Amino acid sequence: MGKQRVLSGVQPTGNLHLGNYLGAIRNWVEIQDRFENYFCVVDLHAITVPHDAKALAENSYAIAALYLACGIDLEHSNIFIQSHISAHAELTWLLNCITPINWLQGMIQFKEKAVKQGQNVGTGLLDYPVLMAADILLYDADKVPVGEDQKQHIELTRDLAIRMNDQFGKKKKPVLKMPEPMIRKDGARVMSLTDGTKKMSKSDPSELSRIELLDSPETIAKKIKKCKTDPARGLEFDNPERPECHNLLTLYSILSGQRKETVATECAEIGWGQFKPLLTETAVEALRPIQEKYAEVMDDRSYLESVLRQGRESAEAIASATLDRVKTAMGFSTPV
Ligand code: AMP
Ligand code: TRP
Repeated sequence: MGKQRVLSGVQPTGNLHLGNYLGAIRNWVEIQDRFENYFCVVDLHAITVPHDAKALAENSYAIAALYLACGIDLEHSNIFIQSHISAHAELTWLLNCITPINWLQGMIQFKEKAVKQGQNVGTGLLDYPVLMAADILLYDADKVPVGEDQKQHIELTRDLAIRMNDQFGKKKKPVLKMPEPMIRKDGARVMSLTDGTKKMSKSDPSELSRIELLDSPETIAKKIKKCKTDPARGLEFDNPERPECHNLLTLYSILSGQRKETVATECAEIGWGQFKPLLTETAVEALRPIQEKYAEVMDDRSYLESVLRQGRESAEAIASATLDRVKTAMGFSTPV
């Protein structure tokens, strides 16, 4: 039997932070040799809120370079840019026409983002999950490794696959394959440095709330120095009264590669004054190799272009076959 297929993506909006790395990309890297992988830079998603046209292309390249820098290996994985493959937009339209609008109106991320946009909520923002469903379904993906916040979008994707198969598939021959989310326990929800009850997010107005993958050691030190803590003595996991403490210890545990129990023992008696430099040094050391590789890749544009060209070619072959299958099932005529 061939390997199962994995698809995932990140939007080229703003710089990637530890939440993106620990919740998503690190997991892609860890599982990649067991699967056939497609990792896309979802630039069509990035325009669902007002965007800067001058920066979009460069941001997409930067995210692709970060995938490589974090350890995505071309022997197992393909990297491509979503908008380079027109089947994503086309399948979105076909899926739109079988998507009840109230499914979209109730999505958590839509409601959160819509509030931030005030009067200026684009149709694309409402339709965002359908585009994401198209990304996944086009590749007959078996697994979709993401952070916790994307679970609802994958449930919608599954509901749409069921709907398409019910309406247009044959009993023994479904049109679309049913994907499954792959969400790890540790790191699936990295919290803000300034508020342990909010997730770390690219769109938080305060830069102090997140550590970005390309932050300098000085910036990382500053952000950790200023991060929110509490007056209690000794550090511990899993105390609901101390969300910041849990979050920072979790970061330390994952970034240092130490088990939770080991960290719990190491930190049980220490205070913030001792812990913060420890976390700083661990974060700086964990990010250093990523930053070095990133600089190397960004310096060699022709290499990056060749990676994306090859990724596009592999992705396109699969995507266009799926699109044809859906169009045939839905009864479209073939071009003459
Ligand atoms: P985005 O930044 O929205 O494009 O998210 C890209 C990936 O990072 C998705 O798989 C998200 O689930 C994941 N992610 C984003 N923020 C966090 C966070 N604070 N903790 C864990 N995973 C996250
Ligand atoms: N919506 C995802 C996010 O914000 C990004 C995304 C778009 C995605 N298409 C996808 C993730 C397909 C996994 C699979 O994080």
